[in-house]
Amino acid sequence: MTAIIVGASSGLGRALAGELAQRGHPLLLIASDARDLQALAADLALRHEVEVATLAMDLAREVDPGARILAALASLPPATALLLPVGLSRRDDAFGLGAGAIGELLAINLHAPLAIVHALLPMLCERHATVVLFGSIAAVRGRGHNVVYASAKRALESAYESLRQAHAPDVLHVQLYRLGFLATNLTWGLRLPLSPAAPATVARRVVARLGKGSFKRYLPRRFALVALLLRALPWFVFRRLRG
Ligand SMILES: NC(=O)c1ccc[n+]([C@@H]2O[C@H](COP(=O)([O-])OP(=O)(O)OC[C@H]3O[C@@H](n4cnc5c(N)ncnc54)[C@H](OP(=O)(O)O)[C@@H]3O)[C@@H](O)[C@H]2O)c1
Repeated sequence: MTAIIVGASSGLGRALAGELAQRGHPLLLIASDARDLQALAADLALRHEVEVATLAMDLAREVDPGARILAALASLPPATALLLPVGLSRRDDAFGLGAGAIGELLAINLHAPLAIVHALLPMLCERHATVVLFGSIAAVRGRGHNVVYASAKRALESAYESLRQAHAPDVLHVQLYRLGFLATNLTWGLRLPLSPAAPATVARRVVARLGKGSFKRYLPRRFALVALLLRALPWFVFRRLRG
C-alpha cells in the first residue's frame, strides 16, 4: 500500500506525507532537493515506523520522470496511490513573461504530472489505484496574472476528465481537488482576500478519500461558493477585478 507523493517536500505534499505515514503507509517522496527529502523521510520513519524512500529530481528538467519513479518503486511494497501536489507559481506570471519561465511553469504544473501519470498508468490500473490531481481556484476564470499557472491548472482538469473517461471506475479512481488558498510557500507574503487553510487539514480530507471513487471537488469546501460567485459575475464586472 505504498503512496507516491510528487512534490512531497513542503506545503500540502509534506502534510500528505505526514498524514499517510501516521496511518502506516510506506511512502515514496519526490521533490527537487535531496537534503529536504532525506530529512523528512528520516523524521517520518522514526516517528511512525514506516518505510520511506526518496527520489530527488528537478521536474523542470527531467526527461523521463516516470521511468525513474518506476525504478525507485522496485524496493517498496506495491503502490496504490499516486498524489501529485507538485506546483510552482511566480509573482511575475503575467503577459510579457519570457519563454523560459513559461516553459518552467508548464513543465512543473502540467508536463510533469501528465508524464508521470502516463508512465505509471499500467501499474496503477493493475492495482485499482487512486490518482490525485490538484487544481486551483486560480483557474476558475482567466485573469491578467497567474496566466500560465492557471492555464496549466485548467489543462489538468481536462486530463482528469480524460482519465475518468478512459478508465472504468473499478479500474482506476481519479480525484481532482480544486484548492483554495493554503498557508504554504506558494502563498507566503501574499495579501489574500480569504484566510488560507492549514495544509494538515486539507491533507487529512484528501487521505480519508483515497480509494473512495472518482470525483472533483473544492477544498476547503467554502471555495466552491467563491468559484460560483466568480463564474456568475458578468464579464464587464469581472474584467474590472484586480488582485
Ligand atoms: N498554496 C495554495 O494556496 C494553493 C492554491 C491552489 C492550488 N495549489 C496547488 O496545490 C499543490 C500544493 O501546493 P503547495 O502550496 O503545497 O506548494 P509548495 O509548498 O510550493 O510545494 C510545492 C512542491 O512541489 C515541488 N516542486 C516544485 N518545483 C519542483 C521541481 N522543479 N522539481 C521537483 N519538485 C518541485 C516542491 O519541491 P522542491 O521545493 O524540492 O522543489 C514542493 O515539494 C500545488 O499543485 C499547487 O499548485 C496551492
